[in-house]
Amino acid sequence: MNTHRSASSHTPVLLSETLRALAVQPGGRYIDCTLGSGGHAASILDHSSPGGQLLGIDADPNAIEIAQERLQHYKDSIRLVNDNFVNLQAICHKYDFSPVHGILFDLGISSLQLNGNGRGFSFQFDAPLDMRFNPSQKVTAADIVNTTSEARLAHLIKTYGEESHSHQIARSIIKERPIETTRQLARLIERVVSRRGKLHPATKTFQALRIAVNHELEYLETALRQAIELLGFEGRLVVISYHSLEDRIVKQFMQREARNCICPPDTPTCVCHHTSRLRLINKKVITPSPMETSFNPRSRSAKLRATERIVTQGDSYATTEDHPFITIAKSSGWRRPALVKKIRTAFTAA
Ligand SMILES: C[S@@+](CC[C@H](N)C(=O)[O-])C[C@H]1O[C@@H](n2cnc3c(N)ncnc32)[C@H](O)[C@@H]1O
Repeated sequence: MNTHRSASSHTPVLLSETLRALAVQPGGRYIDCTLGSGGHAASILDHSSPGGQLLGIDADPNAIEIAQERLQHYKDSIRLVNDNFVNLQAICHKYDFSPVHGILFDLGISSLQLNGNGRGFSFQFDAPLDMRFNPSQKVTAADIVNTTSEARLAHLIKTYGEESHSHQIARSIIKERPIETTRQLARLIERVVSRRGKLHPATKTFQALRIAVNHELEYLETALRQAIELLGFEGRLVVISYHSLEDRIVKQFMQREARNCICPPDTPTCVCHHTSRLRLINKKVITPSPMETSFNPRSRSAKLRATERIVTQGDSYATTEDHPFITIAKSSGWRRPALVKKIRTAFTAA
């Protein structure tokens, strides 16, 4: 069943690559931590049918509403939750949704959020300087711009926007405060910074403010740590990021969790006793094809990384029968007898 006919202006990025990386299979259980308008979720449900289940999370209540409509054909197989993925573990606990076969993070904002509707994410449309994923959050971009000291503002724009003119921009903001709208801020930056190639001078500052308003980097790190705990044996963790700051966090996290020792290189013997819990699926990052970037230019900065959960000594499954995936394997939807055999062999030998 293809549910992609519903009206939506967000095109899911790296869709077939995502399905492959998640190893979506009939009867599987999946979490989409960034549901958006449900593009990836619809395909995951298509490919995990019959018997597939999906827990979809989005901080934006508007996204949940749109996805709900789009995925109504699957209403018995989905649970959509308006929350922040920083609460991933608590959400899964509340809905008894673990272990799972795959978890997806498609980070950042959707085209629907970017394309106006008064959310203030883009300087292309005049709107109040807001940028909150969830309108019930307290702090808006205007609050940050109008109350932060010059030094802190410059630091924020430099760190989260990787903007080399951060000091000039911060100084100019302080002089012109209060700044209430996207256009007002964009025009101010245009006066301070000259255009570099195709990039609008305000792009980096807007990215910095959005990251700060939504605590994007801290929340991503926290959620990734929680995600590992929710994956069953051979469950997949797939992350699509759109800028270098996010991608660095994802890359370092996955590489660290795929290593047995994370001591500094000059440590003579291991003192960390870290054991790998993930296996890297793609050593090289996956990026969109030229064809995808030509029909969906917003995909051009996308980077996909994928890992698989492996069983470690730290996992304390007393017997093969206790392994949560054996339970799933025995239920009707699970179709991987080879995997069940592998788990049995591993634990019988141990
Ligand atoms: C790129 S869009 C996802 C698009 C989706 N994959 C699709 O195919 O329609 C990212 C979504 O993640 C949501 N989001 C970003 N950070 C979040 C967070 N910390 N917690 C929950 N949702 C978040 C945004 O509100 C946005 O709807």
